[in-house]
Amino acid sequence: MTDVDFDHHSPDYAENWRAINEDLRSTCPVAHSGAHGGLWVVSRYDDVAAVAHDDATFSSYQELPDGSRNGATIPASALRQVPIEMDPPEFFAYRRLLTPWFSPGAAKQWRPYLREVTTFCVDRVIETGKADLIGDIAAPVPAILTLKLLGLPVEDWRPFSDAVHAMIHTVPGTPGNEAAMTAMFTLIGQITETIARRRAEPADDLLSHLVRAEIDGRLLSDERILEMVTLVIFGGIDTTTNLIGSALEWLDRNPAERTRLRERPELIAPAGEEFLRYFSPVQVLARTATRDCEVGGQPIKAGERLLLSWASANFDEAVFDRPEEVVLDRFPNRHQSFGLGIHRCLGSNLARAEFAVVLEEVLRRLPDYAIDASGARHYPTIGIGNGWITLPATFTPAAPEGSEALA
Ligand code: HEM
Repeated sequence: MTDVDFDHHSPDYAENWRAINEDLRSTCPVAHSGAHGGLWVVSRYDDVAAVAHDDATFSSYQELPDGSRNGATIPASALRQVPIEMDPPEFFAYRRLLTPWFSPGAAKQWRPYLREVTTFCVDRVIETGKADLIGDIAAPVPAILTLKLLGLPVEDWRPFSDAVHAMIHTVPGTPGNEAAMTAMFTLIGQITETIARRRAEPADDLLSHLVRAEIDGRLLSDERILEMVTLVIFGGIDTTTNLIGSALEWLDRNPAERTRLRERPELIAPAGEEFLRYFSPVQVLARTATRDCEVGGQPIKAGERLLLSWASANFDEAVFDRPEEVVLDRFPNRHQSFGLGIHRCLGSNLARAEFAVVLEEVLRRLPDYAIDASGARHYPTIGIGNGWITLPATFTPAAPEGSEALA
């Protein structure tokens, strides 16, 4: 077996991920890399789908005899997240507890609040004629909605957002990543205190639902609730910011398409799907083989790690016509950006609502925004999340629309 030179956490991958994936698909679609203790990169659409749908053969969570674990990321995170890192049959009860909070109906009900939050964010910058499209708009909107949904204080959005973004775009084991972890652990301390308060005095939020919920007649432990809350925070905060940021940056470089989107708002929904495909905000996630098996004809041994590349599958020429092109109204668009199978993204309805509202508002209120490319900074490494740290922009100043402080 010859190893390929592949590391999703390397700066080279961040810069050249589309070319690297294309090369893998055409030369070695199930390729072994020595990175992070060894992993198989699965890069073709059908192979990724087959693994994601076979949760008996490919596990999302294993505890190992040496005390370490194999979870949904490579390398494993210090924080377990549930139910993304859990297998059937246990998995179903936890997923069921969350499902009603993320249904299409629930996402629809959040739209007026999303509009209010977006108006608030745009109001704070619109008179100045300049903004960081990430720090002022694309980061706060998803973070505020996520905290509101959980029942955590929305005014704390920035420390949550900063810690999650930093954890995603720094390489595990580096000082930057450890600093982000420390910040995250402080926030987790705050969440633990809120769990205790909600046990005493429940409110009408997801945290209160979880402290009252029972599985097999027993209340959930604080630890289990934290694992679920951590997933909603990581799932809710970085991913959608990355989608919105990548879309705004692309529309800056493609002004005719920006005009088309502004004039035909019915294109915003299909454009969201295309940006999901083209940028794959969550690029890869992992599984572990539970038995000796084959993927795409390649023998895999029990215990070996697999990296499912949604990002590569989304460019598979066998499925997508002209995959290198952004086609705002691409149809059909069976991208894998929300995953497939039992772990398919629970937050997809919310993510789509957030994307649509923010795009509508930015195109309506900052129609001539121009990004200062020299100040724009992409994530230096991608690892899991593909996004922007900062997108400084200028635009014609205008009047605020009168949003009050956040509630
Ligand atoms: C652009 C936005 C988003 C993208 C690209 C994305 C991507 C994904 C992917 C690829 C998975 C599959 C995991 C796997 O197969 O191992 C997933 C699962 C999940 N996502 Fe998202 N996500 C997004 C937004 C959100 C939001 C807004 C939330 C919540 C507020 C969320 C919560 C979750 C949860 C709870 C799961 C785990 C589901 C399970 O294991 O049953 N996601 N997401």
